[in-house]
Amino acid sequence: MGKKVCVLGAGGGIGQPLSLLMKLSPQVTELSCYDIVGTAGVAADLSHIPSNSSVTGHLPSAGTWPPTHDTGLEAALKDAAVVVIPAGVPRKPGMTRDDLFNTNAGIVKTLVEACGDFCPDAVLAIISNPVNSTVPIAAEVLKKKGVYNPKKVLGVTTLDVCRANTFVGNAMGKNPDDVDVTVIGGHAGITILPLFSQVEGFSPSDEELEALTVRTQFGGDEVVKAKAGAGSATLSMAYAGYVFAENVLKAMDGDDSIVQCAYVESTLTDSPYFASPCKFGKDGVEEVLGFGEITAYEQGWLDKMLPDLKKQIQKGVDFANN
Ligand code: NAD
Ligand code: LMR
Repeated sequence: MGKKVCVLGAGGGIGQPLSLLMKLSPQVTELSCYDIVGTAGVAADLSHIPSNSSVTGHLPSAGTWPPTHDTGLEAALKDAAVVVIPAGVPRKPGMTRDDLFNTNAGIVKTLVEACGDFCPDAVLAIISNPVNSTVPIAAEVLKKKGVYNPKKVLGVTTLDVCRANTFVGNAMGKNPDDVDVTVIGGHAGITILPLFSQVEGFSPSDEELEALTVRTQFGGDEVVKAKAGAGSATLSMAYAGYVFAENVLKAMDGDDSIVQCAYVESTLTDSPYFASPCKFGKDGVEEVLGFGEITAYEQGWLDKMLPDLKKQIQKGVDFANN
């Protein structure tokens, strides 16, 4: 069945390549690209690609593409099955994701308010950082509107899984695409916890395990540093966002084999939001799955992350309610 996907922040470093991949997706028949700048050009450009999807560009005011198309967020969001949100500022070297809170919290709040008004049934895939706080903000905004569905408000942590797969695949001399590491917790520094003990056939030394764990936790910083002030991960994130959205769409379409990690409302730990494997279905997350047995080493990291994670969640909840 045809599906409309909307990208909010479609003119940005992630938004443009993500929109390209969504335009190519066999699951998507309608793609709407919204941003505060640039989407007329993005949509006109993408529209020349022969695929099964139409494409429209939207801005808050005049200048949409095609020129006859309705402007604004309402038209971008109306009838969307999935809304992917990479709107907001990225980090520069020396910053934490939490340093983005002051700018991005307000952006996400405003955009999710519009989602609540114009596509209350859509699955929201939130990429904007700090994800640990922006997902709780989105949930609180939708609760106030009486349209919150915990199965449909999802933080995208797929890039952490991509990194863990790549790093461990390379360490094992295997195709990283054949590895699927479970990554739990949140999406910032030590709140990211890859469960390498669950990777079949992988027996690293203590030093190797520590190096791989920390590299996965701080993979974002590696890219921020290499980009030297020009932003953070965009291409790998566009790929990860595409994989995540494509899986959500496949499950909506009846594929009952979709399990992927997502940062969602959760009772697995005493953190109210937590990333873990989730089974997806026609309405988003069908079941938040457990993360299986973990080692004492992993438990140590879990115990260490929870206070930080809970603080970042509360910060988002407080922002949305004040
Ligand atoms: P960018 O600056 O290149 O693009 C952001 C886009 O958002 C811009 O085009 C900007 O105009 C747009 N925007 C700003 N305010 C908006 C609003 N109110 N409505 C609509 N669009 C708006 O940044 P980027 O590199 O694409 O990163 C975007 C966000 O994604 C950052 O917060 C970054 O930290 C985050 N990120 C998350 C992950 C993850 O794994 N979850 C990975 C990489 C980046
Ligand atoms: C990432 O993990 O690459 C993103 O969260 C962007 C960042 O700030 O590191």
